[in-house]
Amino acid sequence: MSLLFFKRVLANPVQVGYIVPSSRFLTTRTARFIDFSRDRVVVELGPGEGCHTRSIVRRMNPGSRLILIELDEHFCKHLERQFAHDSRISVVNANALHLAETLLSLGVSEPDYIVSGIPFTIMEKELREKLLANIAGAMGSESRFITYQASLQISNHQHFSLVRREHCLLNVPPLHVMELRKTRPTPVASVA
Ligand SMILES: C[S@@+](CC[C@H](N)C(=O)[O-])C[C@H]1O[C@@H](n2cnc3c(N)ncnc32)[C@H](O)[C@@H]1O
Repeated sequence: MSLLFFKRVLANPVQVGYIVPSSRFLTTRTARFIDFSRDRVVVELGPGEGCHTRSIVRRMNPGSRLILIELDEHFCKHLERQFAHDSRISVVNANALHLAETLLSLGVSEPDYIVSGIPFTIMEKELREKLLANIAGAMGSESRFITYQASLQISNHQHFSLVRREHCLLNVPPLHVMELRKTRPTPVASVA
């Protein structure tokens, strides 16, 4: 584990959520959910010190774009230094609560993928619901939301439908990786 991650967990345990960064087994498994057979716009929420980012970048084709949105400014500085050489990557120190506005300011709407490490399962319900509503609001019908979580709670959330899931035991803690799409609005029945 990097010293930076350890320091940020101690400084803000609820926001960071887990005590160690994701394992290489989890980062590899998560990155395989992304189809890089063509150029993609990928948004990563809560990249931390960048373990999933590195795994995504290794697979990313030259025309793709990766936007990192991280609330912790210490992680952001670390990410900026780490990926300064790669013009495909933008680092934004922002709260995912303002996702749609942040993406619009970068000229992005309806990204292909939103990958999230934000620990929704262990946070207060009101904040979780706001974050999930904002994520769904930034997605189009073809966008995919990929998230790794301790429970399957989000898999039947009103804003999302589960496309597929895998369980990664080789991580502390073991986590579920889920691919979700935005739930289609229910058609309103016409009244004769
Ligand atoms: C469990 S850590 C995951 C770090 C890294 N992705 C990994 O897998 O090791 C959660 C990350 O989400 C960030 N985070 C939490 N809430 C956030 C929010 N509302 N907006 C943006 N980032 C957030 C934290 O600062 C932390 O870096």
